[in-house]
Amino acid sequence: MRSFVPMLLLLVTPIATAADADAGNARATAVCAACHGASGISVIDTIPNLAGHKRAYLESQLRALKDGSRKNPVMNAIA
Ligand code: HEC
Repeated sequence: MRSFVPMLLLLVTPIATAADADAGNARATAVCAACHGASGISVIDTIPNLAGHKRAYLESQLRALKDGSRKNPVMNAIA
């Protein structure tokens, strides 16, 4: 858990614009994969898969996590 805190601080950096797909992919590989899995399939029981979801669903959930209407301390900070 102790090494988890600095990692979380790194994650609070602003997310790249949606239009910048290459930067988004690089960020997803570096950051999101730590929890959601390199291929988008999570290996942790409490963390959902991202692979297989529709783009519109993922976008709506990220927006909800960002504005706080969907509550999760970890993802609220990341989004
Ligand atoms: C520290 C672990 C962690 C990291 C890193 C992380 N997530 Fe998450 N993510 C979670 C957890 C836990 C949930 C489940 C939240 C809940 O239960 O509401 C989640 C949920 C989500 C969801 C909603 C999925 C669904 O099925 O509704 C999306 C989308 C998402 N994360 C995207 C991302 C993206 C994009 C990144 C990288 C910028 C990222 N996450 C990085 C832990 C993480």
